Amino acid sequence: MCGIIGYLGSSDSKKVLLEGLTHLEYRGYDSAGIAIREKDRVDVFRVEGRIKSLEEKLASKQFSGTVGIGHTRWATHGAPSELNAHPHRVGAITLVHNGIIENYSEHKDTLVGMGRKISSETDSEIAAHLFDLEAQAGRKLEEAIPRVMSQLRGSYAFVIMSDFEPDILAGVRNGAPLLIGVGEKEHFLASDIQAVLHRTNQIIFLQDGQFALCKRDKVTIKTAEGDRVQPDISSIDWTSEQMDKLGYPHYMLKEIFEQSQAAANTIDGNIDHRDGIVSIRELGSLLTLLPKLKRLCIVACGTARHAGIVGKYYVERLAQMPVEVDFGSEFRYRDPILDQETLLILISQSGETADTLAALREGKRKGVPTLSICNVRGSTLSRESDVVLHTNAGPEIGVASTKAFTTQLVVLYMLAIQLGKLRGTLKKDKAVEFTRELLHLPLLIERVLGTEPEIEAIARKYYSRPFFFYMGRGIYYPIALEGALKLKEISYIHAEGYPSGELKHGPIALVDTDTVTVSIAPRASNGVVDTLFEKQISNLLEVKARKGSIVSIGTEGDLRLREYSDQLISIPRTSWGLSPILATMPVQLLAYHIAVLRQTDVDKPRNLAKSVTVE
Ligand code: F6R
Repeated sequence: MCGIIGYLGSSDSKKVLLEGLTHLEYRGYDSAGIAIREKDRVDVFRVEGRIKSLEEKLASKQFSGTVGIGHTRWATHGAPSELNAHPHRVGAITLVHNGIIENYSEHKDTLVGMGRKISSETDSEIAAHLFDLEAQAGRKLEEAIPRVMSQLRGSYAFVIMSDFEPDILAGVRNGAPLLIGVGEKEHFLASDIQAVLHRTNQIIFLQDGQFALCKRDKVTIKTAEGDRVQPDISSIDWTSEQMDKLGYPHYMLKEIFEQSQAAANTIDGNIDHRDGIVSIRELGSLLTLLPKLKRLCIVACGTARHAGIVGKYYVERLAQMPVEVDFGSEFRYRDPILDQETLLILISQSGETADTLAALREGKRKGVPTLSICNVRGSTLSRESDVVLHTNAGPEIGVASTKAFTTQLVVLYMLAIQLGKLRGTLKKDKAVEFTRELLHLPLLIERVLGTEPEIEAIARKYYSRPFFFYMGRGIYYPIALEGALKLKEISYIHAEGYPSGELKHGPIALVDTDTVTVSIAPRASNGVVDTLFEKQISNLLEVKARKGSIVSIGTEGDLRLREYSDQLISIPRTSWGLSPILATMPVQLLAYHIAVLRQTDVDKPRNLAKSVTVE
């Protein structure tokens, strides 16, 4: 977490840094700061709070400097405060850091023993001291960086300025993201593409264990072992317009409404028009392996894990293959049983989530094939996996994940259809039928989004309630989990997601007149869900008997569901596979409108950050 940026060029660095930080703010927003080199001095400005407060502090200040660094923080070591904010300036060194240095307290004791004064509670300041020791000993950054890297344990990305080398901006990467934007006689260093895309789309992704020394007209990349690396520049096709709110009050709402296009972009190019069946073009080398697999193991965090659970239902049903789903934060610690007949699938919007990356590395260590489903091209996950299936959702800025989730479901559904066909568990005519329906998905999504005014009215009715249950059966159970997560993270209302049949095993004790139960129960053009439907009605009656309010998400024209619900949000009747995707938009919109009515900061909810790059 935390966003870092550096600039070296000829433009106004205050402007470049603040612009970059604004785009990085979703990564953390409890304090912020910049440092600018002005001829022979470095000015550091830091604030507790958001970039806006930093802008206010800097409003009347003019700088001539064209080299600087900036940071927006999500606190790990040390409370959010001006003192703990970055940049840290120690002797000749000014740096910003993203990550966690695990052995910082050992170094701290040594530094204190040497008489060094530590001013903050952060691990980052300790790193600044280590770099300064090197600088004071006369070592240039090129020699000093590998020496400090060898002393640090943990994850880090640094951007560093040294007073002794004023025309160099250094970037170091090990376990936290860092890239270089290449402009005309200028270079940018940043945690992610968003921060530089409005200036350049020419990007070099640093790899773990590498560092870069940027001058205005040249960049040198080396490994910690001292080997020179040839810079590999990629052209990124996301536009800066995609990063703007385009008139929407929040990124989250814009991203909810982009889901039709995002689904279309994700499906595009993945249908074999000769037989009319899904054929995922990015599967590449995995194609020959797929029929031989015995098991899938899906690992992800948060919303992406909920997508993984939907994927389990898809694959077990269509390809009749066992699927296990685990939390990124748990997987590696249980010494998972993995073999050559297991495919490890990692799902992540950002491709930088520390626990998901650690799961990938556990899989690689055990020699199993790996596939990632990822939205950010060039991210660590996409570079380190054997095969990557990209969700073409475009940049997702709102902290609450929306379009990334639905496009993850699209990819998982396509994968299940293709697997089923390859393994002979899905008949050709069914594969054709499911593919044809999939092509209608973008239109169906638009229809569901058209119900927004009704959902807003429902939000008005219930936004002051203290507690929400979300319940669903079968493939709707993970949508219940996702609905509850969306509500709690942006509205701060306590919400729980359950498989409906579990309520009576304890949680129903919480139901009273204040409780709202959101029941996810669309019917599908397929028998299995309809048998579960009757059971769902029994669960609704159990809630009703305790005088809880019921909001149902169901199929258009479902009179039975209407009879037992206080409110009904309708989605079009569609197939079993697409139904959970359509049921997602109402839970997203309900959470969004409740959060707006409760006046929370929807795009930047408290205590959260978009990309969780620490364990
Ligand atoms: C919730 C949310 C998080 C992320 C999780 C994984 O709205 O956004 O739960 O889904 O932190 O992030 P990625 O997908 O980037 O690995």
